[in-house]
Amino acid sequence: MPPKTDDGGWKKFLWNSEKGELLGRTGGSWFKIIVFYVIFYGCLAGIFIGTIQAMLLTLSNYKPTWQDRVAPPGLTHTPRSDKSEMSFNPRDVETYLPYTKALRDFLAKYDDDKQLDQMKFEDCGDEPMGYKNRGDLESDTGVRRACRFSRSLLGPCSGLDEKDKEFGFDKGQPCIVVKLNRIVNFRPRTPISNETIPEEAQPKVQPNLIPIYCTNKREEDAGKIGEIKYYGIGGGFPLQYYPYYGKLLHPHYLQPLVALHFTNLTRNEELRIECKVYGDNISYSDKDRYQGRFDIKISVNGL
Ligand SMILES: *[C@@H]1O[C@H](CO)[C@@H](O)[C@H](O)[C@H]1NC(C)=O
Ligand SMILES: *[C@@H]1O[C@H](CO)[C@@H](O)[C@H](O)[C@H]1NC(C)=O
Ligand SMILES: *[C@@H]1O[C@H](CO)[C@@H](O)[C@H](O)[C@H]1NC(C)=O
Repeated sequence: MPPKTDDGGWKKFLWNSEKGELLGRTGGSWFKIIVFYVIFYGCLAGIFIGTIQAMLLTLSNYKPTWQDRVAPPGLTHTPRSDKSEMSFNPRDVETYLPYTKALRDFLAKYDDDKQLDQMKFEDCGDEPMGYKNRGDLESDTGVRRACRFSRSLLGPCSGLDEKDKEFGFDKGQPCIVVKLNRIVNFRPRTPISNETIPEEAQPKVQPNLIPIYCTNKREEDAGKIGEIKYYGIGGGFPLQYYPYYGKLLHPHYLQPLVALHFTNLTRNEELRIECKVYGDNISYSDKDRYQGRFDIKISVNGL
């Protein structure tokens, strides 16, 4: 049997009423400890807040500060599926419903009646033109107007006409709508020479336009893609929509769109198509499949 300990010992240590000690210390010494920690943590919090404040002062509301390594813009398309595959039967609405729904939802932003406000939008022309300067990023002129972009520019891919309500899917001639992702203050440059561009795409080069060109990705699909029609301003991305001033200064900004209309795809084959934009400062990366290009598999099934 261990010796029986003084059972009043612990209680006495916690609170010794005779000496007025808590955990073996007097009230005065507890007070000093508490004051010390309050000041200590107060200083830590002060240093922390001060550093964050100083950091925020160096940041601009309008321009990303740490953008010295801008990746060239991503090229994205609608409809977009997980594996970049689109497979449908023109005679079976169910098979293409998700694609036409995605297009309808996406294009709703571009309805003409959403672009009526003269304070928010302006016309920038239906032909490719040079950059539209709207003042300095840091200046106080406030919110900038956005260029209108009318759905009707997309022709049979606009979904506006009664006979094109299904964006060509019901005829086995699907449309895809493409945009370049926004990058604050990015000014895409047109190709400076024809040498960097595949020969078939060279006729698409014109002033003030970033051309887009699609072709078969695999050798064996050569000749099976058929004619691709390009709709939009000049069939590419016109420079008057750049630069973009960011969410705060350019809240109504609309990216210019290009619609690709695949009018004669070979049926019952999985076709792999690659689309690329060309420009002097647009490059491609092996790691990012959407940087300046994308590829998609399309199968049109049925007779
Ligand atoms: C593209 O060119 C513009 C100059 O016209 C330059 O300011 C910008 O940094 C360039 N962007 C890239 C990604 O090279
Ligand atoms: C590239 O070639 C096309 C036609 O082949 C021509 O219209 C265009 O002016 C050329 N562009 C340049 C920058 O040489
Ligand atoms: C569609 O492509 C086929 C070859 O795949 C060709 O024979 C036919 O003439 C093309 N039709 C049109 C309208 O271009």
